[in-house]
Amino acid sequence: MDRISSILIIVIVYVVANEAALSRRCLAGSELFVCILSTFDYTPGKDIPVFELPVDVKAIRFVEPFSDVHGSDNEIQMYDRVLHLQLNSPEAIELRSSSTRAVEIAPNLAYADFSSNAITEVLVPPNQSYALRYLDLNYNYRLKHPQALENISRLVNLETLHLSSCVVETIPQNMFENLNRLAHLTLASNNLKQINLEQLPMSLTLLRLDVNGLKEFPTSEMARLPLLEDLNLEHNELKELNVNALVQTAPKLRLFSIGRNPLKQPVLNAILDELNRRNIAYYNMEVSSDMQCGEHEVHYRGVCMASDFFLMKWTDWLELIMLFVGLVALLGGIAYGGTVLWKRYHMANFSVKTNRNEP
Ligand SMILES: *[C@@H]1O[C@H](CO)[C@@H](O)[C@H](O)[C@H]1NC(C)=O
Ligand SMILES: *[C@@H]1O[C@H](CO)[C@@H](O)[C@H](O)[C@H]1NC(C)=O
Repeated sequence: MDRISSILIIVIVYVVANEAALSRRCLAGSELFVCILSTFDYTPGKDIPVFELPVDVKAIRFVEPFSDVHGSDNEIQMYDRVLHLQLNSPEAIELRSSSTRAVEIAPNLAYADFSSNAITEVLVPPNQSYALRYLDLNYNYRLKHPQALENISRLVNLETLHLSSCVVETIPQNMFENLNRLAHLTLASNNLKQINLEQLPMSLTLLRLDVNGLKEFPTSEMARLPLLEDLNLEHNELKELNVNALVQTAPKLRLFSIGRNPLKQPVLNAILDELNRRNIAYYNMEVSSDMQCGEHEVHYRGVCMASDFFLMKWTDWLELIMLFVGLVALLGGIAYGGTVLWKRYHMANFSVKTNRNEP
């Protein structure tokens, strides 16, 4: 009997302890308004997590747990409405590197950092207004589906949107149509082969398109980026660029990064001269790493270029050889023509002479 009651006590203690563990609390050292929580396994629809949060908490930051729970991947598979409500509907959320596959944007959320996940879906139910001003989706290499980007077009209060390293190939036609407050847009390290500037919002002040496959930067009279100050086009496939047309499109431009493109030396010189004339910087003096070139790069007038920048490519050699062959052919032609003429002249002269001697 004694044994049974002690087993019973053990069971009760175990259940109570588990209940307590299930109610998740802010980690020691959390700030007053920012609660730091360990990530845990969360599958939507399977369980409803319970938290014990101070009433003043407005922001939640998830971090990896310090000691790994055995058998747990600590994956929050989806940041959905249920989880958001259970967290007392925070205004700011930071959930990074948690293999999250989908996020549902809640109307009151103002700041969201979901970078370095595996997001394929951004759920933005229509017919609602969204407070979201800052959205970081960098390093979500599965965010290819154009509809995920189309959904972002409903977040009309966005001021900052980070979509770098997301394998983006095309930008949906109407994606930025209603994002009239968007000031910072980063689309670096994607697979963009072309860009339509007319699609972009006029409110942009910073635009990053570096490390893509852009072969041209098509400025047109229709495209207007009147507030753009900082434009980064480094590391694309640009062979030329019209600075005058660019400045017509973006008259406020102050920093324009153009290095690491396959520009020939005279072309680059003309671009840099024009930028100098217009007081537009082409590297950021405040960022020391901006002046450090990589291993296979050369430094030229403050710009990093591929190390074959000073070398001639085989196409250049081919052009030179063709020119040389052409010249030789021309000279040969002239020489041949000359000898023929000379012979004719001689013959004519000779025959005249012989004719004269005849009688
Ligand atoms: C777009 O948002 C709708 C509404 O929330 C959702 O049903 C759909 O799955 C989302 N699509 C993508 C690809 O994110
Ligand atoms: C959303 O609003 C549009 C018009 O504003 C309406 O046609 C549509 O039926 C609404 N959809 C829902 C799901 O309420």
